[in-house]
Amino acid sequence: MEKSKVLIVGATGYLGKRLVKASLALGHETYVLNREEIGVDIEKVQMLLGFKEQGAHLVPGSFNDHQSLVKAVKLVDVVICAISGVHIRSHQILLQLKLVDAIKEAGNVKRFLPSEFGTDPARMGHAMEPGRVTFDDKMVVRRAIEEAGIPFTYVSANCFAGYFLGGLCQPGRILPSKDSVFLLGDGNTKAIYVDEDDIAMYTMKSIDDPRTLNKTLYIGPPKNILSQREVVETWEKLIGKELHKSSISEEQFLASLKGQNYAEQVGLTHYYHVCFEGCLTNFKIGNEGVEASQLYPEIQYTTVDHYMRRYL
Ligand SMILES: NC(=O)c1ccc[n+]([C@@H]2O[C@H](COP(=O)([O-])OP(=O)(O)OC[C@H]3O[C@@H](n4cnc5c(N)ncnc54)[C@H](OP(=O)(O)O)[C@@H]3O)[C@@H](O)[C@H]2O)c1
Repeated sequence: MEKSKVLIVGATGYLGKRLVKASLALGHETYVLNREEIGVDIEKVQMLLGFKEQGAHLVPGSFNDHQSLVKAVKLVDVVICAISGVHIRSHQILLQLKLVDAIKEAGNVKRFLPSEFGTDPARMGHAMEPGRVTFDDKMVVRRAIEEAGIPFTYVSANCFAGYFLGGLCQPGRILPSKDSVFLLGDGNTKAIYVDEDDIAMYTMKSIDDPRTLNKTLYIGPPKNILSQREVVETWEKLIGKELHKSSISEEQFLASLKGQNYAEQVGLTHYYHVCFEGCLTNFKIGNEGVEASQLYPEIQYTTVDHYMRRYL
């Protein structure tokens, strides 16, 4: 089967650059949106030139110029967007409505993968303020895609390993301590951790796959479905030492939200749903979804133990 031509939007981001790498590795003709607003951001410009050196095509465009987006999406079969959606960094999820308009007008795109890559927003109608904004905005984009009749795949990638494993599931931390850890509640709620490079690879594998058309692709590698305690135990084995453990109750955690700034509160609410409520593991995938490690068993995914060795 011929491989789709792909446009990656948000390519210089934390996930975006991995999508470019995976797309090139799988032999897709890869186009990358080169936004004029990047200006003199030398790091981004150098990264884009690096993509070009590796075989990607840079396509000029801007979210402020509808026709430039139409022109860019006309070059490809599949559009993948990894625009920012983490408040402590940047949150531009609704800008994608402009991309949806461009895809609708262009009329040639066989599939669009919007910037999701986290908790399935369709399951978060009950989510707490203010963190629910992430899920609400992602649902606004979904509705626009579906109303426009654009074929899609939504990727629910669960926890990015760098945030959650790096910090032993403690909000506000991304490097594991060799001395102590605080557990969220009893630390026994299961979550799912995925190496960001594996997220990119599973995503790219899905784009030409009829089994993922108009479905949610849940990335749930079975060995990586662990509780916080199990993550801590993995780390303890690697460092050959037990950490001192304290615990924060649900009530204390919720009380700690007050007094934090908005962006931090958004992030804390997400940790609440993942680590106290168990929102990533408290359901069974229905007809609307498929699981990535089952569809693509040939991908040797990175286990939690393997991922954490980098912190030694
Ligand atoms: N599950 C998890 O644990 C988890 C963790 C983190 C993120 N995520 C999700 O993953 C997705 C990507 O997040 P990320 O952290 O990789 O994003 P990011 O690195 O913060 O940003 C990605 C890219 O968005 C583009 N962008 C930023 N501001 C923009 C603006 N004003 N106008 C147009 N483009 C703009 C930039 O790309 P260009 O300059 O190249 O255009 C930027 O490099 C989001 O949906 C997020 O919610 C999930």
